[in-house]
Amino acid sequence: MTHSELSVLCKSCKINPVALTRFPPLESLLSSASGYSNYRGILNWCVVMLVLSNARLFLENIIKYGILVDPIQVVSLFLKDPYSWPAACLIIVSNVFILAALYIERRLAVGTISETTGLILHLFNLTSLLIFPSASVLTVTSITPVGGVLSLGTYTVLFLKLYSYMDSNKWCREIRQAKAKRMTRSYSCPIVAQSNGSAVNTNVSYPGNLTHRDMYYFIFAPTLCYQLNFPRSPRIRKRFLIRRLFEMLFLMQLLVGLIQQWMVPSVQNSMKPFQVCINMETLTVPNHLIWLIFFYWFFHSSLNFVAELLQFGDREFYRDWWNSETVTYFWANWNIPVHKWCLRHFYKPMLRKGVNKFLAQTAVFLASAFFHEYLVSVPLKMFRLWAFMGMMAQVPLALFVSRFLNGNYGNAAVWISLIIGQPIAVLMYVHDYYVIHYGTVEALA
Ligand SMILES: CC(C)(COP(=O)(O)OP(=O)(O)OC[C@H]1O[C@@H](n2cnc3c(N)ncnc32)[C@H](O)[C@@H]1OP(=O)(O)O)[C@@H](O)C(=O)NCCC(=O)NCCS
Repeated sequence: MTHSELSVLCKSCKINPVALTRFPPLESLLSSASGYSNYRGILNWCVVMLVLSNARLFLENIIKYGILVDPIQVVSLFLKDPYSWPAACLIIVSNVFILAALYIERRLAVGTISETTGLILHLFNLTSLLIFPSASVLTVTSITPVGGVLSLGTYTVLFLKLYSYMDSNKWCREIRQAKAKRMTRSYSCPIVAQSNGSAVNTNVSYPGNLTHRDMYYFIFAPTLCYQLNFPRSPRIRKRFLIRRLFEMLFLMQLLVGLIQQWMVPSVQNSMKPFQVCINMETLTVPNHLIWLIFFYWFFHSSLNFVAELLQFGDREFYRDWWNSETVTYFWANWNIPVHKWCLRHFYKPMLRKGVNKFLAQTAVFLASAFFHEYLVSVPLKMFRLWAFMGMMAQVPLALFVSRFLNGNYGNAAVWISLIIGQPIAVLMYVHDYYVIHYGTVEALA
């Protein structure tokens, strides 16, 4: 019987046609065969449980220590002397390196210097970009550890950007030479949608990109990989911008408050002899929560705010790292600007030269470990290699997880390594910092 015959029959007999319909077999929603994956409500439940379970810890903390949040103390983290701003000066001086890279590229474009001379000048510029700020942070006594981290962080970002600038312009010259060899008249790089500096539909082609405007657009854009023509958004969405700004300001206050009120006493407690294991538990919770808030503040609110202001179209700053079932998936998805830079300027060039995949991955982690250590050791003025070792430990951890664990077990292993690994590194540095500067960890209490 066809569907229409059935409905006519049902109508004449006044029967509900649904009663006669045969339904297909159905899986229970929670069984994996159902293919159901929308766990938004469960996520909200987890957040509610997290807040409720930590409310007790937080209340205990307030009863025990009182209110520790102190905005004046925050200023002292950045400045020792209100009339001396060494970190800000260091950041302003970085313009010298930016302009040096632009002028080297201009000389290379018109052929007044050879490729080898250009490469040597670029390498000198890039090496100075790492040595100059670290030497300044180590020698200038008025610079605070937080000021040091900020200025070294800026210089590291500039190092990656200017390396990308050098590589990309070299590729453009190679394309130009290849085209010239083929007797073509066009001197442009592959055409992409829109140009830097303005949202109009004009394409910049090499060497027309070698302008101050283009260079500074790239320096401020939330990306580490240079392109002649970045994808652009059509307009600035004011509501979106204000929401991101509000998040940035609110989460910044929350982070500072949580660090002062919760993290510092937890670290102090963890330092007490014979209590390290017990107190690790109280340290992991605030540390992890602060890291999660930092992730959202930086990768979602701040980078989107800057991108919206600059009408920068590529907003893929992170992917779903929280679903990582392997350690390599986590590192390839949590910080996309760095990952894209690693792929484009380091990993893929190595693979193309025939380097084995494992060796290439280890080399990327080695470089990353160097920068992590650089950003911690120099501002703290102590060389302990904990950050370096933490990053290098990712290689055997990745091998172990991919070989022995998969699915939810792999995901749990990644979460556990994040939740426990970071506070261990924090404790190591805080312990050593106090022993070096005050002779004992008792000074913390
Ligand atoms: C090392 C690292 C780059 C590996 O990334 P990955 O995505 O796991 O690497 P894969 O081997 O899967 O390949 C990635 C790319 O290389 C390409 N590739 C693989 N073998 C290749 C070869 N022989 N030649 C050319 N390309 C190749 C793949 O096709 C893939 O390209 P796609 O991205 O366009 O799809 C990544 O783990 C990483 O970025 N680590 C460091 C992260 C870090 O330190 N972040 C700091 C955050 S604070």
